[in-house]
This record gives sequence, C-alpha cells and structure tokens, in this order.
Amino acid sequence: MAFDVEAVRAEFPILSREVNGKPLVYLDSGASAQKPRAVIEAMTKVMEHSYANVHRGLHTLANETTDAYEAARKSVARFINAELGEVVFTKGGTEAINLVAAGIGAGLKAGDEIVLSEMEHHANIVPWHFLRERLGVVLKFIPVLDDGRLDMEALPGLLTERTKVVAVTHMSNVLGTINPVAEIIAMAHDAGAKVLLDGCQGIVHQAVDVKALDVDFYVFSGHKLYGPTGIGVLYGKAAELAALPPYQGGGEMIGEVSLEKITYADPPHRFEAGTPPIIEAIGLGAAIEWLNGLDREAIAAHEARIYARVREGLNGANWLRVLGDAPGKGAILSFTIDGAHAHDVAQILDRYGVAVRAGTHCAEPLMRRFGVTSSARASFALYNTEGEADIFVDALNRTQAFFA
Ligand SMILES: Cc1ncc(COP(=O)(O)O)c(C=O)c1O
Repeated sequence: MAFDVEAVRAEFPILSREVNGKPLVYLDSGASAQKPRAVIEAMTKVMEHSYANVHRGLHTLANETTDAYEAARKSVARFINAELGEVVFTKGGTEAINLVAAGIGAGLKAGDEIVLSEMEHHANIVPWHFLRERLGVVLKFIPVLDDGRLDMEALPGLLTERTKVVAVTHMSNVLGTINPVAEIIAMAHDAGAKVLLDGCQGIVHQAVDVKALDVDFYVFSGHKLYGPTGIGVLYGKAAELAALPPYQGGGEMIGEVSLEKITYADPPHRFEAGTPPIIEAIGLGAAIEWLNGLDREAIAAHEARIYARVREGLNGANWLRVLGDAPGKGAILSFTIDGAHAHDVAQILDRYGVAVRAGTHCAEPLMRRFGVTSSARASFALYNTEGEADIFVDALNRTQAFFA
C-alpha cells in the first residue's frame, strides 16, 4: 500500500493552522501526537449521540456506550494480538507502569532485584524507586553505550536469582533507539524474571505482537498513538494479571462487598476501579482503527526518509551534537547546539513555526549519562513531510547563527 502523506495530513485539522505567521511544523509528536478527524468525530459522536456511564445501566444509552467502550478494548486487543481479558484501560502509560510496580511490589522483599536501563523515562524509573524506598528492593541499570544502544553485554551480569522484573523501554523517547526486546525478554525469562516493556514510543512506530514477543506486560499511552489524552493500555498475560492484586478500590472492580469482606472481579475489570475514561477509550479505539487503514511499514519507511533528510541537511553542522545514533533507530532527533540553551533553541524555532521539545525529556539519568542538563528534541510522525524537514533544517541553521 503506498503512503500518501498529503492525504494523511488532510485528516489532521490542526496541521493547516499557522504559528507566528508561519505554517505549523509540528515536530513534537513524541511528547503528544496530533489527532485525526476520525478520533475527534468518534469522541464527539459518543457525546452527542449515546453518552452514559458504562457497565451499570439497563437503559439504551448505557448499553450503547458500554458496547462502544468494549469495542475499543477489542480494537486494542486485535492491534497487539492479545486476548480481550488481557487489555486493561488506564489513564496513561505512566499509570499502567505504576499499576504493575505496585502489584508486583506487594510480593517483593528487601534484596529482591529489578533491572531497568539508563535510558528509561521517569515513568519507568520512579514507580520502581518507590519499591526501593518502601521495601528495600535493589535497582540495577543496563548501561547505555555512546551511540545510544543498550550495553547488552552487561545484561547477563545484572541478572541473578533475585531478579524479579526486567523493565525497559521498547524505544527511547530521547535517543530514538529501538531496543533488542526479544533478546532481553529471552534472557530475563531464562533468569526467571518477568518483563515489562514500556511501549509508549515503540508502538507508535512499529507493529507490536505481544504473543510473538512473549512479553509479560506491555504498556502504552493513547495520546502518542494519535488518540486522546487520559487513556492508556496495560497489556498483561492472563496469568500475570490474575496474580496481581488490585491497584485501586471502588466501583466496578469488585465481585462482592459486605461490611466484613470483599472479593474482586476478574481482570481486566479488577484494575478499572470507578468510572473509566469512557470517551477517551472510544477515541483510542478510533485511532487504532484509523491506523489499521494505513500500511504501518510504509509509515515507518516514510518516517525514516524524513529523518534521513534532516540528518543529510545537517551534515557538516559542526555546532550540533546529536544524542543517539544507534543503527535502525526511530525518527527522533535529540540535539544540543554549542553555546545555546535548549529552551532558547526551542523558543527561536517556534518563531519559524517549528514546534520541538526542550528539557530533560523526563529522562534525567540519561541526560547525566551524556553529560548534558537538557537537549532539544525533534520527533517525527507520519504526517511530517520532506518540505517540513527542509524548513526545520533551515530554521535550525538560522537559530545557530543567532548564537554564533
Ligand atoms: C518512553 C516513555 N515512557 C513513558 C512515558 C509516559 O507517558 P504518559 O505521560 O503518557 O503516561 C513517555 C511519555 O513521554 C515516554 O516517552
């Protein structure tokens, strides 16, 4: 299937706006992607047509909304090749990781070990630090090599009989590195550890088959996948979810409640206490169905082309330092400019209509690893064009001239 970027762009109303008198060049999709009309319309439709709370009504609107909410779960399950009961809706990737860490933590003791990596987003560091603080579990980190790859030779030495969990990102939100997750999963399983993959970036740029991966937990956020905010997914193998205690208590997650005791619902509902993000789940379902209509390999090739064009355009820019050059990396360019603070770089680029992120990218340990306090980051998505790549390169050259 050919990939027609102009046809795709036409489905994103926001992309036709101007910023500071210039056409918007949105290169911050790694932080949050823009939304196609299919998502906006699905969310509007449910609010205008059949909105009610889910799972608890006997009237038509409640049944229609429940059907739409559960249809979204089906879309997610098909998208990642999971069973329906293995898909838990959360409010985001962060909440999904917290849910798993808290649940697994309930069974850990001081001295148990958790292996993370130096390139993790804080969402996949802080929940495990909670366990270190509260229980005395030991955190170990797979080092990152200078080119942005994980130091896989170090991993066997980090795995012991006390390793309970290996939790790593599928794709780095800073370096763009796509990690060798199949290898990591096999090694962790050999050591008797469970594996959680943070797929917040990874699933946006490649197809994910949780069964083929044999991963225990896979998490992602809706808003980076062209869906809305306020919705995320926790995939867990059925047996793993069944073994986890509930995360939050409230309505809809119980079997029975009396004054003396409680029993819990089976997964996934055990982990969806209270009124869930109904409209957001329906929006995520629409985003996935919309993506299913595109050729994901063609999208990946398109994004790689845009990235390569930017790198070519910046060839010879000796004032630029790029963080992360791993082979096969995704379309994320994190960089510093000699003598310029990343925040200033982002603000000047904004004058040219170019939106990039600047800061630590919620990855302070990784920033330290590369000896920087911050960087600017351009993250590319399916709707970016070669023309936008050229505008970005030109704007970056002008930005640098400002500091020279
Ligand atoms: C790799 C990675 N993990 C986790 C997160 C957290 O996602 P959210 O803020 O949507 O919960 C992000 C967001 O930037 C991310 O890039």
